[in-house]
Amino acid sequence: MTATTISARGETLAFPDGFVWGAATAAYQIEGAARDDGRGPSIWDTFSHTPGRTAGGHTGDVACDHYHRYAGDVRMMAELGLGAYRFSVAWPRIQPSGSGPANAAGLDFYDRLVDELLAADIAPYVTLYHWDLPQALEDLGGWTNRDTAYRFADYTQIVHDRLGDRVGTWMTVNEPWVAAVLGYGIGAHAPGRASAAEVFRASHHLLLAHGLGARVLRESGAREIALTLNLAPVITPDQVNDPDLVPSAEDAEAVNRIDCLINRQYLDPALRGSYPAPALAIMDRMGGLDHIRDGDLEAINQPLDLLGINYYTPCVVRSEPGEPANAAYPGSEDIRFSGAHAPTTAMGWAIVPTGLTQLLTRLSRDYPEVGLLVTENGAAFDDVVTGDRVHDTDRTAFFEGHLRAAHAAIEAGSDLRGFLVWSLLDNFEWAEGYDKRFGIVHVDFETQRRLPKDSALWYREVIRHNGLHRERVRRPTLEAVAARAGVSRSTVSRVINGEGTVSDEFRAIVLDAVNELGYVPNSAARSLVTRRTDSIALVVSGSPAGAYPDDPLFSATVRSATRELEDAGKRVTLMLADSAEGRLRVERYAASGHLDGVVLDSTLSSDPLPTALARTGIPVVSLGRPAVSAPTSYADIDNTGGAASAVRHLLARGRRRIAAIAGPPDTIAAQDRLRGYREALRDTGHRSIIAVGDLTLASGADAMRQLLRDDPALDAVFVAGDLMAIGALRVLSESGRRVPDDVAIVGFDDIGAASYTVPALTTVRTPRTDQARAAVRLLLRQIDGGPASSTILPTELVIREST
Ligand code: FCB
Repeated sequence: MTATTISARGETLAFPDGFVWGAATAAYQIEGAARDDGRGPSIWDTFSHTPGRTAGGHTGDVACDHYHRYAGDVRMMAELGLGAYRFSVAWPRIQPSGSGPANAAGLDFYDRLVDELLAADIAPYVTLYHWDLPQALEDLGGWTNRDTAYRFADYTQIVHDRLGDRVGTWMTVNEPWVAAVLGYGIGAHAPGRASAAEVFRASHHLLLAHGLGARVLRESGAREIALTLNLAPVITPDQVNDPDLVPSAEDAEAVNRIDCLINRQYLDPALRGSYPAPALAIMDRMGGLDHIRDGDLEAINQPLDLLGINYYTPCVVRSEPGEPANAAYPGSEDIRFSGAHAPTTAMGWAIVPTGLTQLLTRLSRDYPEVGLLVTENGAAFDDVVTGDRVHDTDRTAFFEGHLRAAHAAIEAGSDLRGFLVWSLLDNFEWAEGYDKRFGIVHVDFETQRRLPKDSALWYREVIRHNGLHRERVRRPTLEAVAARAGVSRSTVSRVINGEGTVSDEFRAIVLDAVNELGYVPNSAARSLVTRRTDSIALVVSGSPAGAYPDDPLFSATVRSATRELEDAGKRVTLMLADSAEGRLRVERYAASGHLDGVVLDSTLSSDPLPTALARTGIPVVSLGRPAVSAPTSYADIDNTGGAASAVRHLLARGRRRIAAIAGPPDTIAAQDRLRGYREALRDTGHRSIIAVGDLTLASGADAMRQLLRDDPALDAVFVAGDLMAIGALRVLSESGRRVPDDVAIVGFDDIGAASYTVPALTTVRTPRTDQARAAVRLLLRQIDGGPASSTILPTELVIREST
């Protein structure tokens, strides 16, 4: 099965032939019947029965009572058209005390389940360990005890002996990272232990169990063997919205370290037979390496047919010197784990579908020998039952986004073979108890009634078509609700926002329409009072004509912002606000409701327009950081960091008398560049010598002359703009200074001319088109009701002959 088999069949975004569609569950989360038929206690029984461990003191004693209702549940799966069902076998049903002879009644249950599935033409996918370790083994040390891995191999043999004639696909261990870290590192999951040293022991033994189990399965003739991991692309905050951004060296180190802990600590031993060096160094520091014995890595590195991927949300990190380690990531000192600027699920997990594309393409690139299967992907939302429907539009949108992301990965060559939603049923969500609902089927835990949610009905159609409609599912709009209820949009909006100004009668009519249409107000609708216009103004402000010339990269910036906006279906109006009158015009226009938002190019720190526009309440994003007092969000470039890197480069070249030609002092970018220069010098104790220009070539020449007068012995100049640097180069050559031998020089911006000067100019490249695009994306997100966030893009030092 390759990407070439994907074709656009009519209106469908088709998946490869034979693509497996299914759903997943886990034993302790759904079975209940905790003491039936000889089942022994597991660590989750003990943990959930310990006061204070789970939300509301919930336990899996009854759960979805699937143990007794499995036949009906399988019928429902068949109705939904599932091709595969991933469930886990409860080890304590098979070996109530974790070792010794099999409990026949326990095996019988899975035997019946498998037969029922096969009769319904649903492939059984068996997970052998989904966290319910027999308590008797925990009493001997649990996963910190090496022997547990050998017990797991025995148990695997027992289960395969009974089911192997009918089950083709086997998953050994589910999410060793979660089992080790949450169970042994921070105590949030069973068995509730908290020790940084034990995490790595437990982790290693879970991997060893995988390897030993996989070997048993292979020798017993299993058709497909897999390991299921919780994997997350590790990205910086800026990459959440722009995956192609290149992080700074410090951030790249942070990303790599966390990637080694959460992803490669498992991927590499299982698929390459080695631990990544950074993870090994951390393990060593935390508790030594004596638990890793000779031959272990060979045992873990068994040939695998499939890699199971559980993807929910990316891991967002950046470098932050001084930050203490995150308890879930021993060894993560100097790294900040930040939230993502993205909508979240009821778990608070950021929804980032592109993370799945990144993950899948990366796995197929780095581990090409193994086929990929999404064994879990899904979301908890606060579902509402209306009559016999659950209009879970958010969940449908979540799946749709992730399936599009998966499809994109397949098109890019990723060997993805199937997709299993988490979860079939609302269930016992571990420490969260029953409060967090992940099912595509709603479960009423009082009556055990099953009710397929709208997302399940939608999924059935996806399965039937082996793909998605090219057009996204259209969510019912506020307008549609208003039309159905026969009221105005603002009435609907007031009802949704719980304002008391609507009569009970109209409130009831609106709520009926909301339920009937399955309308789920998003944050935009909650705040929405004006109509969308699809018009955006690109406002250029604050450069009084004649004070200094146009920024050489201005047209590139405007062009890429305009293109990005037009691609998003927006009309763009360019407005100039270079006088008090012009500013007033812009303000009035923004306040009049003619615009969805503004991209603002404002350079002067005293510009009143950012504050005035923010007051109108429409979304505004500035190109560049506005004055501190202005509450608009912005997409800036790292002016301070760029200047500092230029000066550090000069210092590294041995320069000691480094002067600066600064830009106009009333612009924020120039202030930031000057700050970077000063900070880099301050660290070394060298003194600063500063002249000021207005960004023109002539002003650069004047400033250079002045600097040579002030300090004839200077040996380097940092110039806050390339045109000024070109002027300065001229003066240096007129005065007989050789560049770089006598005086080295660095510019800023990397305009086209910088590479043609003699000698070619070393300069700081500013990603201006990226900046414009980022500003537009931030704006579009705000217009869609997302948070008002800002971003700062890194700059890059381009070294040429002038230094
Ligand atoms: C995964 C688990 C699964 C469920 C989902 C939400 O980590 O494998 O059992 O809890 O998260």
